[in-house]
Amino acid sequence: MKNPEQNTRFLAKTFFGFESVLARELLSLGAKNVSELNRMVAFEGDQGFLYKANLSLGCALRILMPIATFRVLNQSQLYDAMLSIPWTQYFEVNKTFAIDTVLFSDHFSNSMFVSQKAKDAVVDHFRATTRKRPDVNTIEPDVRINLHLSGDNMTVSLDSSGTSLHLRGYKTVTNIAPINEVLAAGILHLSGWTGQRNFFDPMCGSGTLAIEAAMIACRIPHAIHRKEFSFMHWDSFDQSLFETVRQSALNKVREFHFSIYAQDKAPSAVRKTEENFENAGLSQYAKVSRADFFKTLSPTESPLHIVFNPPYGERLAIDEIPFYNEIGNTLKHHYSGSEAWIISANLEALKHVGLKPTKKIKLYNGKLEARLQGYSLYDGSAKQRAAPTSSESE
Ligand SMILES: C[S@@+](CC[C@H](N)C(=O)[O-])C[C@H]1O[C@@H](n2cnc3c(N)ncnc32)[C@H](O)[C@@H]1O
Repeated sequence: MKNPEQNTRFLAKTFFGFESVLARELLSLGAKNVSELNRMVAFEGDQGFLYKANLSLGCALRILMPIATFRVLNQSQLYDAMLSIPWTQYFEVNKTFAIDTVLFSDHFSNSMFVSQKAKDAVVDHFRATTRKRPDVNTIEPDVRINLHLSGDNMTVSLDSSGTSLHLRGYKTVTNIAPINEVLAAGILHLSGWTGQRNFFDPMCGSGTLAIEAAMIACRIPHAIHRKEFSFMHWDSFDQSLFETVRQSALNKVREFHFSIYAQDKAPSAVRKTEENFENAGLSQYAKVSRADFFKTLSPTESPLHIVFNPPYGERLAIDEIPFYNEIGNTLKHHYSGSEAWIISANLEALKHVGLKPTKKIKLYNGKLEARLQGYSLYDGSAKQRAAPTSSESE
């Protein structure tokens, strides 16, 4: 970044379906010129804002800083384009680097080949300028360069985040089939969770939804426990600005006046959730216990904001249709007055919850198409109980 106070254009990547919640997060942090794209959101901000966005956003997977665009039709143009970038202005030769390539171009068919060719050009640029060559590290590089080839055009970006931002730094133990943290934060935003009442995940696994819910309620920057971001290896990195931004984000943390209830029938899941809450420094809000959702009453008499991802599909073997039917019965009989949201990739089983959803949102959990369905569980609601439907409305 040439002038740290000048606004630069960035791209925050996310999952399908979360563009609007990510745009809202960015606007509330103070981003300028925010626009929603396909699985990403473009915005402008200065260097301090880039740090703030990486630290605070719940729904971003990584934040890219485009540095050059070229027209490239073959490998020699690709090499020349990469060689022409003044790489020594961006990072020092003693940093390791890696190149990630995303291909939507008829001129190239193999992203590994493109990364390799681009890497040669970066190394040659350093060799010509410094007489030394930087090392490549594809596993844990200091600096990540992102190439996006679409049609005749190539955009070269520096990836400011490094490893995906779903790696928050609080999860040391995972249970079977944990949900991605960015997916969890996005689901919570889509469900309307702001910390307005007690929260409940009755099938909490390693506690991701419950911990992300506590972070949103307290306005805790989602990546506050991360030790490393790729921008820390850039020449432009300003440690004292980073500390100031970090402290100012922490100053905005607020008290949460309700509880986060998290339950699971597996004792190992309960232990893992407790440990992860502790790592996140949020144990004071957590009421974690072992319970079978179908055999216990609500953990509190007050209305709850319930969000969970029941077992489904490839990773957890259960007889899903009766299981989802039991979920619907339990919600109806024991949680009236609450609001419940279920995310599942078993679209057939979801129909057997047997309650009329107030909202259905198409999402993906990894490669699996999923639905987030919301249910308002009003008192004595014989009306809302509906026969399973075979048609889906979006
Ligand atoms: C898909 S996992 C949840 C993953 C979790 N969201 C996470 O991020 O780790 C489903 C969880 O439901 C739990 N479960 C299955 N049947 C249950 C029941 N009847 N009552 C409570 N928990 C149950 C399993 O033990 C498992 O941990």
